[in-house]
Amino acid sequence: MIVAPSILSADFSNLEKQLKEVEASNAEWIHFDVMDGHFVKNITFGTDVLHAVKKSVNMYVDAHLVVSDPEYYADIFMDAGADGITFHLDAINNIERSLSLIKKIKGRGVNVGITLYPEVDLHEYLPYLTEVDLVLVMSIKPGFGGQKFRQDAIERVKWLDELRKNHNYTYKIQVDGGINAETGKLCAEAGADILVAGSYVFKNDIKSAVDSLYNL
Ligand code: DX5
Ligand code: ZN
Repeated sequence: MIVAPSILSADFSNLEKQLKEVEASNAEWIHFDVMDGHFVKNITFGTDVLHAVKKSVNMYVDAHLVVSDPEYYADIFMDAGADGITFHLDAINNIERSLSLIKKIKGRGVNVGITLYPEVDLHEYLPYLTEVDLVLVMSIKPGFGGQKFRQDAIERVKWLDELRKNHNYTYKIQVDGGINAETGKLCAEAGADILVAGSYVFKNDIKSAVDSLYNL
């Protein structure tokens, strides 16, 4: 399991301190939600904050692009130091263009992930599963932290895990939204490899919350 605290729920008046606490915990990744106020009705942070994160801690930054134009922003966030880029297929809605974005990200040696809104048919993932490093299952509607975990995410994780076993695919399965020790356990049992957790980590003692997700 990899635990990826989402800094969307961090205390921004104390960001460096909180980042250092995450670094001192067992967490391996920082999850970095970029929202443009267009694909979803929230605006988060951009490359200046990513530079600050990279300067403060030596950690893998998992950029989740919750934006309408990932084809434009992928390069910008890779230039700023993202180690992984996950984008919404439902922001592009075009197989050829999505495949070419996947190729471009991989070509830069950056890990590539894909995701969909929680209600979208899972078969939309099929054209990409041999090409990506990660498939992100959204267990909330993207946009805000602190929402309730959607139980239907479990079936989606199981579906991706079955498919992976049957075809020897190598993608990792990540779950994002409403993760705590209880929902994290359900995801881990269903086959998830990476848990993103925002409010659960930052509204509790960071180290203990992270440890609880490693000891499910
Ligand atoms: C929401 C983001 C999540 C968010 C999760 O759109 O993608 O990464 O930070 O927050 P919690 O863990 O509080 O549901
Ligand atoms: Zn996210």
